Amino acid sequence: MTIARERERLAHDDADASKVLRVGIVGLGYVGSSLAEAFVAVGHTVRGFDVDPDRRHAARARVRARGASGRFAAVATAAGLDGCDVFIIAVPTPTIDGRPELRFVRDASRSVGAAIGPGALVVVESTVAPGTTRTLCLPILEAVSGMTAGTDFLLAFSPERVNPGDALHSVRSVVKVVAGYDSASAQAAAALYGQIAPVHLAPSLEVAELAKLVENTQRDVNIALMNEVARLCGALGMDWSDVLDAARTKWNFADFSPGLVGGHCIAEDPYYLLAAARSNGVALPTVAAARETNATRAEDIADAVASLQPDPAGGPVLIHGRTYKADVADTRNAGAEQLRAALARRGYAVVIADPLTDDPLEYETTLAALRAAPVEVALVTVVHRDERGTLEAELLNSVREHGTIIDLTGLLSAARLPGLHLRHDG
Ligand SMILES: NC(=O)c1ccc[n+]([C@@H]2O[C@H](COP(=O)([O-])OP(=O)(O)OC[C@H]3O[C@@H](n4cnc5c(N)ncnc54)[C@H](O)[C@@H]3O)[C@@H](O)[C@H]2O)c1
Repeated sequence: MTIARERERLAHDDADASKVLRVGIVGLGYVGSSLAEAFVAVGHTVRGFDVDPDRRHAARARVRARGASGRFAAVATAAGLDGCDVFIIAVPTPTIDGRPELRFVRDASRSVGAAIGPGALVVVESTVAPGTTRTLCLPILEAVSGMTAGTDFLLAFSPERVNPGDALHSVRSVVKVVAGYDSASAQAAAALYGQIAPVHLAPSLEVAELAKLVENTQRDVNIALMNEVARLCGALGMDWSDVLDAARTKWNFADFSPGLVGGHCIAEDPYYLLAAARSNGVALPTVAAARETNATRAEDIADAVASLQPDPAGGPVLIHGRTYKADVADTRNAGAEQLRAALARRGYAVVIADPLTDDPLEYETTLAALRAAPVEVALVTVVHRDERGTLEAELLNSVREHGTIIDLTGLLSAARLPGLHLRHDG
């Protein structure tokens, strides 16, 4: 099929929207399986390739739950994607010691390069630094396929912006930023994503790549500012939640709270921005300082624990909330683990309770189990939606009388915790 015919086929008009496409997705994690579900729901056929059998199994179960498993297959080799019209790369982009790790994107580009045919559209969805789609993915795709981007196949970048645990901000409702290697690629990608979400067309691959990093870095910087405010409140003997309750009454106050920044987006993406800046000879001192503030926040909190319970032999510290944020089961790079490590360095043992995690660790417990052996200090990192009405009552039984709860969420109320000290500062 010539690229001209393919451009015609994918052009953004009503006739094309009704055409059933074969969509191949590399990486069936949170992003890949959400996309699979969304494309199957609008009638396309999806094949997902993941190296991890558990992820293939979970993706199958997710699509089956939607009653559309006939249009979805999870495959164990990239060859299973042969013949697809569209290829989406949704593999992880973690960091190692603050440096971007692009191994997965490289491997996925090779897999796609081996599977694409003339006229295919390739979309990178993994979060990457500006220039990565053009200078890393494109040469691999061309070398492996023997074809040329813009002539033989189409290439686009579209960052994923879903908010796990947030039903309002899903693949189907969040505006999809889309950019193409050339205008045909941009149009094809816009036509594709326009079927599942509102689309914003960005002028270049690099603009779309940078926009994603800026979104998450903005959150990191704002949370870092609040973490500094919390540190100051601690020194001044104030509760940061009282200060923020007052400050929030101003119409243009940006509503951020202090907290541990974990997960695989906000705690990672600023490093991609910093790496891009470094390689272009630009310093981003605000971004770097914010990242450092958030990355070391657990140390401040561990120091506060040590002042409340100076003897590590006085029993374990309870951490309530093992996931990286409320209402998700994902524990990657979570604040609880940052705290556990910081406390371990000071000689403290921890017990961790979280009703949403189902792969128990040796120090995992439940609040009910702590009734027989309450702790002196509890740290609340996350309050899941279903616990909002009940957590204080459970904590009352899990913490010794006159013990302390350090609430990192701002959601607990001292009025509901008689006999315990509640602190919102670190
Ligand atoms: N999860 C989110 O909320 C979110 C939001 C926005 C952007 N992102 C970005 O999207 C990308 C994917 O994130 P995720 O959360 O879905 O990651 P994930 O770790 O949940 O899933 C990625 C999947 O890719 C698989 N994989 C790795 N290398 C592979 C390869 N070479 N071939 C086939 N499969 C491979 C892994 O086994 C894993 O199942 C990342 O760049 C991330 O930063 C994630």
